[in-house]
Amino acid sequence: MSLFNNPFEPAHDAALVTGAGNGIGRAIAQALVGEGVRTVFADVSADRVAAAIAVAPRPELAVPWIGDLARPDSWEELLAYARTAVGQVTHFVHSASPPRRETDHALAVDAETWDQMRAVNVDAGFHLSRELARQLIAARKPGSFLLLTSLHAGTPRNLPHYSASKAALAMLAKELAKTLGPFGIRINALVPGAIAAGGFVADLSLTRHIPLGRLGRAEDLAPMALAVLSNRISAYVTGAAFVVDGGLSLTNWFEAPTLDEL
Ligand SMILES: NC(=O)c1ccc[n+]([C@@H]2O[C@H](COP(=O)([O-])OP(=O)(O)OC[C@H]3O[C@@H](n4cnc5c(N)ncnc54)[C@H](O)[C@@H]3O)[C@@H](O)[C@H]2O)c1
Repeated sequence: MSLFNNPFEPAHDAALVTGAGNGIGRAIAQALVGEGVRTVFADVSADRVAAAIAVAPRPELAVPWIGDLARPDSWEELLAYARTAVGQVTHFVHSASPPRRETDHALAVDAETWDQMRAVNVDAGFHLSRELARQLIAARKPGSFLLLTSLHAGTPRNLPHYSASKAALAMLAKELAKTLGPFGIRINALVPGAIAAGGFVADLSLTRHIPLGRLGRAEDLAPMALAVLSNRISAYVTGAAFVVDGGLSLTNWFEAPTLDEL
């Protein structure tokens, strides 16, 4: 049998993707239903979720959930709803993140924006992961979770609330991987580069710094996301961070060599 046949077990697997209304989360949620996995598309925007499901490859496997993940009471609501709608969630993707506004630099970002970024990225990511893990442990089932971090978990973005929350999420992936590994629950981080997918307003001049010569698309992230989520393909992978950036993170104060002779 081919290594890449049947990466999931649709009879047993079910997924929950936050931020499934747009960009990378949408591409991953759509790819999961394309593999036959029942998937909750969770997002704060009803219009975005409806549009994402309308063009999903198998919309009958997609279940919408609309709510604000900055609110702690929404986390229990989402968990209960997911359980009823798709059964035990075995694959969790946390891609929701509030808008990044370039004006929110260190001297400008207000307390509400700071709190909202932390609440959605870190608090919701931690709580949902932990509660889904508790359910899996009780059911003695394996699981695979993927947290969307950022290159800005390690290098400044001029948005301290955003980069600090992504750094926290990157560490959470490692903490959870270490604690939950003995129960067969794998947690990894997906690290996108400059992805012109909605949340990031792309400046084309950035391509100069990308060895593969173009900005990323949300669809560039989905294959890696599914490979890492798949217990068949990535059974021995946990606590790892997968950079999908066309080589952007290789940029430093040295330009690439000019190869005129070729
Ligand atoms: N686009 C990039 O270049 C890039 C780079 C690095 C990391 N990321 C990360 O990837 C993820 C997806 O980013 P993107 O740019 O593809 O899309 P995005 O930022 O547009 O999508 C985020 C989604 O989250 C939803 N959301 C926002 N606040 C919410 C809330 N309070 N409750 C529920 N849902 C909420 C939005 O409605 C949206 O559909 C984010 O976590 C982002 O930090 C993106």
